Amino acid sequence: MTSGIRPYYASDGASAIHYDLITAQDRSLDGDIDLYAGLIPAGGSVLELGAGTGRIAIPLAERGFTVTGLDIAPSMLAQAEARRGALPDDVAARLRFVRGDMRSLALGQSFDAVIATFFTLAHVQPATAWKQVFAGIARHLRPGGRLAAHLPLVDKMIATPPAAGSLLFQTPTTDGDSLALIFVEQNYAAKSGRFDLTLDYVLGTATGDERSRSRERYTLFHGDPAPFAERAGLRPMGEPLPLGTSGAVHIFEKPAV
Ligand SMILES: C[S@@+](CC[C@H](N)C(=O)[O-])C[C@H]1O[C@@H](n2cnc3c(N)ncnc32)[C@H](O)[C@@H]1O
Repeated sequence: MTSGIRPYYASDGASAIHYDLITAQDRSLDGDIDLYAGLIPAGGSVLELGAGTGRIAIPLAERGFTVTGLDIAPSMLAQAEARRGALPDDVAARLRFVRGDMRSLALGQSFDAVIATFFTLAHVQPATAWKQVFAGIARHLRPGGRLAAHLPLVDKMIATPPAAGSLLFQTPTTDGDSLALIFVEQNYAAKSGRFDLTLDYVLGTATGDERSRSRERYTLFHGDPAPFAERAGLRPMGEPLPLGTSGAVHIFEKPAV
């Protein structure tokens, strides 16, 4: 960390450590598990790209699907594995987490569905990476299989930036401390489609003394998935479904042969 700013999901970063605490209270994700579950045939198989701590993968395995969760970040996978270890044996047996990069998928199997939830696909650049990502997805879908990708609506994300120093969110932590998210700055480069949001994660005591502060940068790329999906042989299934205030889920199908 040379700039003093960690990228999101770094091993020692607060965005990874407190991911579950924060997303559990993020109402913009309400309903996403049901939406993905509704796209997979009963008892079917699903590959989740960027599975993180297992927020989606675990409930899908609990609902009877066989789930492979792939992620690049050891910090997130370690939490996912810990949660898997606490599941009933039959659920844990339907679930595996693997370290990997969605830009070079080579799992040697095909799935009934591939899902990329909570803006995961937007962590890699459309211009340089989506061609490989979509080709990999198409190779890992069985004929008739579906891709669901939740992508940000950048116009909504940049519409009204908060003032620097604004408190965005505060919650007690499980060990009696308090976690606050403070807005530092955001930038959007329209030419490259790159959106950067810098936040301070501040841990403090219940009485307000600051214990630690981690400055972290969340980077997303804006892009239209349709041409990439089409080039990979996937066809759109209707219009994107709005999910949350600043995102939509794009659904594609690999035509049955
Ligand atoms: C916003 S989290 C989503 C986690 C989970 N899918 C959910 O909905 O809660 C994005 C995840 O994508 C992962 N990720 C980012 N780039 C990746 C890549 N190139 N390959 C695989 N995973 C990646 C990050 O490590 C992170 O865990």
